[in-house]
Amino acid sequence: MKKLNVGMIGYGFMGRAHSNGYNRVNNFFDLEYRPVLKAVAARDQAKAQQFADKWGYESVETDWRKLIERKDIDAVDICTPNNLHKEIALACAAAGKMILCEKPLSMNGAEGEEMVKAVEKAGVPNTVWYNYRKVPAVTLAKKLIEEGRLGKIFHYRANFLQDWTINADLPQGGAALWRLDAAAAGSGVTGDLLAHCIDTAIWLNGNINTVNATTETFVKERKHQLTGKVEKVGIDDASIFFCRFGNGSLGLFESTRYARGHKALYTFEINGEKASIKWDLHDLHRLEYFDYKDEGKLRAWRSIHVTDNGGEHPYMDHYWVPGLQIGYEHSFVNHVADFLEALAKGKPCPPTFRDALETQYVCDAVLDSAKASGMTKQVKHT
Ligand SMILES: NC(=O)c1ccc[n+]([C@@H]2O[C@H](COP(=O)([O-])OP(=O)(O)OC[C@H]3O[C@@H](n4cnc5c(N)ncnc54)[C@H](O)[C@@H]3O)[C@@H](O)[C@H]2O)c1
Repeated sequence: MKKLNVGMIGYGFMGRAHSNGYNRVNNFFDLEYRPVLKAVAARDQAKAQQFADKWGYESVETDWRKLIERKDIDAVDICTPNNLHKEIALACAAAGKMILCEKPLSMNGAEGEEMVKAVEKAGVPNTVWYNYRKVPAVTLAKKLIEEGRLGKIFHYRANFLQDWTINADLPQGGAALWRLDAAAAGSGVTGDLLAHCIDTAIWLNGNINTVNATTETFVKERKHQLTGKVEKVGIDDASIFFCRFGNGSLGLFESTRYARGHKALYTFEINGEKASIKWDLHDLHRLEYFDYKDEGKLRAWRSIHVTDNGGEHPYMDHYWVPGLQIGYEHSFVNHVADFLEALAKGKPCPPTFRDALETQYVCDAVLDSAKASGMTKQVKHT
């Protein structure tokens, strides 16, 4: 079996999710490659060492540049806040390292373009962790659409709702709260949450051509955790947009961190001429399906428990017996498996940097439109 030496930068939420993916992947998938957890880079030596011991990394670096310079690292996994993605990715490409980068690809489209140029020039395998594509029920939705079961698509609707920033005393910036600081995050829910919805939407329903958006920052000032000063909040707390897809369908998207009672409610629904589908992250192993061609007296929404094997349901042959479901963490195991399989075949592993740039362009257009009081903005394409 070939080894793929992985170096991870950042060891927070995604550091754990990805490490679990690398550790589990060969238990469930028969692959040519085996990831080896060579090193983790983070600024705090003691904390990084604790993480390395827990997840099985062989060594620790306190400067991510050192990790990239190392000859024994084949692939670098970028798990840092968004403002570091570009700098790290450019350094990786220059060093000829493969890159697995967290989403959103970049702070904005211009940065994303530089990153795409760099990885394509260097010819290094790359992927962006839009992991919801790798949830079996979402992959099944893709399959049903490709089989033409929905017919012409009229509507695409998506929400990503949370409620964790309602407290006006919550500081912005620094550890755990960098998402509230525009300098680290680039934007608020648009780049953090809607980016997921947009990536899935483009994958399932094709390119988005125009958007009209509105955003709101409900809490205008927050104390900055690092400076201790009360500073203006630069992120969008809520973002709503409608759009037109290239296939003629209409889209409606909403994201907020102010929907009291919702923790991570990502849902989408697609309405076609012949059938509709809907999915809900809180019930991620189910795909709801309505088929108009069903016999009238039985016609109804059906809830597909996406756990069959024998090739019926994506990824599920690799797990348990039919009826037993998998969870959130397996979307990362599946993503690692896809990356390693693509590597063995010399093929790209979608979503690539270029695919993720398309999402970045939609985010840019959403923020531009919101700034221009909802004016229609054309989306740039890759
Ligand atoms: N795919 C998903 O569903 C998903 C979910 C959550 C986060 N993310 C993305 O993953 C990335 C990280 O988010 P997170 O939730 O893991 O954040 P986190 O705050 O939990 O972890 C960030 C890590 O980056 C480290 N870091 C910050 N600056 C650094 C530096 N200069 N050098 C080395 N390490 C540094 C921090 O120490 C921390 O370990 C973000 O881009 C985020 O958008 C994606």
